[in-house]
Parts: sequence; structure tokens; C-alpha cells
Amino acid sequence: SIAPEIARLKACAVVPVVVIDEAEIAVPLAEALLAGGIDVIEITLRRPAAMAALEVVAKRVPGILPVAGTVVTPAQAAEVHNAGALAVVSPGFTESVDEAMRKTGLPWLPGVATASDCMRAVSAGRLTCKFFPAEQAGGVAGLKALSGPFPQMQFCPTGGVSLANLGNYLALPQVICVGGSWLVPADAVKNRDWAQVTKLSREAREKAAELRG
Ligand code: 3PG
Repeated sequence: SIAPEIARLKACAVVPVVVIDEAEIAVPLAEALLAGGIDVIEITLRRPAAMAALEVVAKRVPGILPVAGTVVTPAQAAEVHNAGALAVVSPGFTESVDEAMRKTGLPWLPGVATASDCMRAVSAGRLTCKFFPAEQAGGVAGLKALSGPFPQMQFCPTGGVSLANLGNYLALPQVICVGGSWLVPADAVKNRDWAQVTKLSREAREKAAELRG
């Protein structure tokens, strides 16, 4: 059976991948996404402020699903759990992060790009994975070929996904959602241009709804 958090990702269909430098802007940013119909946010652990940003979103923006991204160590798995993440994404798969994620009990989408990656993920019972970096790893054709031997797997393609190509991914039955940073451009964050984030979110949701209904 599908975890409720995964069902949320699937229903939203588009997962904004966010790089954040100041925890204070996490709340207006999350609210701007929500205003555009995006009710999930992946906060990547790429900046020192990320953990605080995750915590503040989890506490103060109840309408959005807080997801931690770029989790690459077992310690980070435990930390994002404590910060209030309800799901976790990693760019790749390691046994040590898999084990740490098991302890948290949170849904985890490890990244895969090759058949060997998929074999490892499937052996660990991780059937829902991030396909990363999607465009660079072969795009839609690459994902189709990769998922041939793994019909039980589902994917969230991320990396080079945009409004222009998201429909090609969402049309595949094995794709539950796509991820990408385009909804939250660095310039919009710098200028606190939340209207821009809402506009990009709404466009993405509309495009996804055309395919998903
Ligand atoms: C990620 O970590 O998921 C990617 O950096 C997002 O890729 P994009 O910036 O090409 O959308």
C-alpha cells in the first residue's frame, strides 16, 4: 500500500526543489507555492539554513508537506526527521542512508540513474525512487528503458525538468510526480518575488492537471 505522503506527492504531481539561504523566507516562500496550488515543498540540504527552514515550514505552514532533499548521510536522515520532515529524498542510494531512513520510519525516495542503482534499491524494498538527473540520464526514453526490467518501480524524475517537458514524464504510468527547481528561481527568492513563484506554481499545476485530470 502507498504511504499517505507518497500519495500527496502523486496528487500534487510537481515537487518544487528549493535551495534556501535564510530560514526566515521559508514561510512566505511556502505560502507562495500553496497560493499556486503546490502543497509540497522539498527543501534541499545544500545551505546551512536548510535545517532551520525545514523546521519553520513544518511548524508554521501546516498546509504544505515538508520534504527534505539532498539527504546524503545517515546523520542528516536523523536530523531531518527531528526537524519535522514527513518524507525524504536523496540523489542516490547507499546502504547506510537506507538503514538510517528505516529507523526514522519516513518514506524515502533514493535516487537512481542506472540498472545497478535500481537493483540495489529494489533489494532494499525501495520501489519508489527519484530518477536523477533525469534529462542528463536519458530523459523520457532513458527512463522507459531503465524501468523495463523493473516494472514494480515508480519514479519521480528530477534534473532538467521544466514546464516544457514535465508532461512527457507525467504521461508515463511509472511516473508518480516530477521534481524541479524551476518553480523557485534564485532571482525570485533574491527579490522576494513571491508572485512569480505563485505564477510558476499555477502554470505547473495547470499543465499537470491537463494530463492527470
Ligand atoms: C535536484 O536536486 O533535484 C536537482 O538539482 C533539481 O534539478 P533542476 O535544478 O534541474 O530542476
